[in-house]
Amino acid sequence: TPRVFSGIQPSGGLTLGNYLGALKRFAEAQDRGGIETVYCIVDMHAITVWQDPDKLTRATRELAAGFIASGVDPVRSILFNQSQVPAHAQLGWIFNCVARLGWMQRMTQFKDKAGKNSENVSLGLFAYPALMAADILVYHATHVPVGEDQKQHVELTRDIAAKFNNDYGVEFFPSPEPVIEGAATRVMSLRDGTKKMSKSDPSDMSRINLTDDADTVAKKIRKAKTDPEPLPETIEGLEGRPEARNLVNIYAALADLTPEQVIAEHGGQQFGSFKPSLADLAVARLAPISTEMSRLMQDPAEIDRILADGAERANAIAAPILKRTCEIVGMVGAR
Ligand code: TYM
Repeated sequence: TPRVFSGIQPSGGLTLGNYLGALKRFAEAQDRGGIETVYCIVDMHAITVWQDPDKLTRATRELAAGFIASGVDPVRSILFNQSQVPAHAQLGWIFNCVARLGWMQRMTQFKDKAGKNSENVSLGLFAYPALMAADILVYHATHVPVGEDQKQHVELTRDIAAKFNNDYGVEFFPSPEPVIEGAATRVMSLRDGTKKMSKSDPSDMSRINLTDDADTVAKKIRKAKTDPEPLPETIEGLEGRPEARNLVNIYAALADLTPEQVIAEHGGQQFGSFKPSLADLAVARLAPISTEMSRLMQDPAEIDRILADGAERANAIAAPILKRTCEIVGMVGAR
């Protein structure tokens, strides 16, 4: 049976990139039906870089609220935080022993995050992709919806699955497919169309946060960097215009249209009129989410209850897969 798995780190707030590239698509996968959807708040991944404990707790609950406000139903989907299901860490260790140092050294996210001073990053940051492989494979997940930036990690997951199967002479772990679809798999910075929109960008004007109020959202879109030309009449006209392309893609994803349809409707417009339409659309789509997030955050005990329930259901899937893995490896007393 097909099973979807994906995760988001509780490190800082959610951006429009996280919403369009991940959360919105998670809700759509769930709503399509006929497929089990498992969604994880990866707190163990978050601590690969220092997190203030109180902030981590708050960010975990806020992210849970973000999932639910975006349409992930904790009854129809499984929603939980990673550290409550020990099988992730346990399988992660086994995968640390399957993955090769050279594979990890090629990971572009590690290279970006470690920068030049890689002597002083945590060992966990280096091993990060092996834990991510464990997240996915401990559910035998078949489909992994992610943004473009996670593609390399999902491919590494496939390599780890294949090497495990080969080393132990089994056909045990499936090869999960990255699902990178739609207009907004790489939402770019509003200040630089060649950089990814990111919660770690020093400029708050570069991103839209799910917690921004309507005025802030409108202001950030009005001030977004663009070139002086009007929108092109055809999609080919976006070539070499990264900022224009980004705003068209954002519009398309928010309106559930293709970029071609957006160009058909708005081609030839000046940004002076396209930006206000985009701002109205963004506010209409995002305001209900941020309102619902604040409402949910008023009852942290209820959020904790939802995560505990999700963890129990996740564990029911993961524990037997971990047990079988330990048996394959030859560990005595696996349970
Ligand atoms: P994270 O927490 O950085 O981001 C969560 C999801 O949001 C997507 N995303 C974007 N999509 C489009 N445009 C953007 N600007 C943008 N920024 C972020 C990411 O691609 C991701 O889908 N390693 C993962 C978390 C993880 C995971 C997993 C994902 C841990 N285990 C297992 C899938 C399966 C991460 O750091 O995502």
